[in-house]
Amino acid sequence: MESLDILVVDDEFGIRSGISRILKNFTVSYPFLDEDFSFNIIEAATGEEALEIIDKKPPAIVLLDNKLPGIQGVEVLEYINSNQLDILVIMITSYASLDLAVKATNIGAYDFVPKPFTPLELKSSIENVTKHFFLRRMTRKLHKEGKQVRFQFLTVLSHELKAPLNAIEGYLKIMQERQAGDNLEAYEKMIDRSLSRVKAMRTMIMDLLDLTRIESEGKKRDLRELDLGLVAKSAIDTMIPLAIQRDVKIIYDSSTSVSFVGDSKELEIVFNNLLSNAVKYNIEGGQVNCSIKANESEVVIEIIDTGVGIAEEDLPKLFREFSRIKTSKTKEISGSGLGLSIIKRIVDLYKGSVDVESEFGKGTTFRVNLPIIPSINEITGI
Ligand SMILES: Nc1ncnc2c1ncn2[C@@H]1O[C@H](COP(=O)(O)OP(=O)(O)O)[C@@H](O)[C@H]1O
Ligand SMILES: [Mg+2]
Repeated sequence: MESLDILVVDDEFGIRSGISRILKNFTVSYPFLDEDFSFNIIEAATGEEALEIIDKKPPAIVLLDNKLPGIQGVEVLEYINSNQLDILVIMITSYASLDLAVKATNIGAYDFVPKPFTPLELKSSIENVTKHFFLRRMTRKLHKEGKQVRFQFLTVLSHELKAPLNAIEGYLKIMQERQAGDNLEAYEKMIDRSLSRVKAMRTMIMDLLDLTRIESEGKKRDLRELDLGLVAKSAIDTMIPLAIQRDVKIIYDSSTSVSFVGDSKELEIVFNNLLSNAVKYNIEGGQVNCSIKANESEVVIEIIDTGVGIAEEDLPKLFREFSRIKTSKTKEISGSGLGLSIIKRIVDLYKGSVDVESEFGKGTTFRVNLPIIPSINEITGI
């Protein structure tokens, strides 16, 4: 059984001992809770005394009377808030000062119990706050362990990979049984569809690999002085087949040369993803403009396309994992929804930023700003 510290702050001895008595043998249990919670009551007669106890060892919960002889309960609450202490506060207030109770919850109290209260009312309030305490702890734990993300990953992955596998398997069975006759041409469409499904799966797997590579802690980054112009050029070269296929022109000054200290693999991923989006979400006969500029403090990479654009309300969703904007124009385009979240992670590694401006139906501009860190030579003093 886990015991939670509850600090009771009230100048009336009767109230303090009453609360102690009510909660002494009280336990809280839930079906999803491994062990029950019991409570260890600590008493303080004044706000000053309460602050001393809080400073020494913050309790999980504070039951706080507002009307105290010295500093007021609200001031204790403010102290807890301004020091960002991990304490859940329940205000004890006389029913005449309900206004104050509301105000207290506005400034961070979890709940309030009006005085006088019955043992049942007190217990129910403690039960609620304990549940909240537990859920908060679980959420933080899951968050810290990355389990929420992992769970979402597995759900989406199983769906995204199962659908194309089923399709390919279906086509292969049709071919195996010659269901469309002996004329090979009858099968061409199925082969094309299978190949495009394979391609989509490959993209998904590659994106996942990029993501795990960035996520894996302890991964050594290979920072060296490099030419961003060349990194962009190589990314554009890989994109040209897709661009030709989609009749999209990529405009880039191939003499661009911008020196930058970074990890070339990471920066390639940034260019690859931005360029592939600009080509993929473009229109037939559209254009992509790629430019890299530098001033003394930062490098600015701009990828401007004349594509399908993104509605304003969808902009905040862009950088989330697995987030894809489905419109009549994009629903046929395959992708993992991971590219921009990968870019964001990489750009964060450089303490840079990535912004997007877009007009639905007209086109989109992605801008990446990367602060310049002193070159390796300057660092080592060579
Ligand atoms: N240049 C762009 N023009 C229009 N929409 C875009 C552009 N880039 C990204 N998007 C939208 O943002 C979504 C997320 O992009 P991304 O993370 O690269 O995933 P993916 O391309 O794999 O779908 C895309 O599905 C698309 O809807
Ligand atoms: Mg993409």
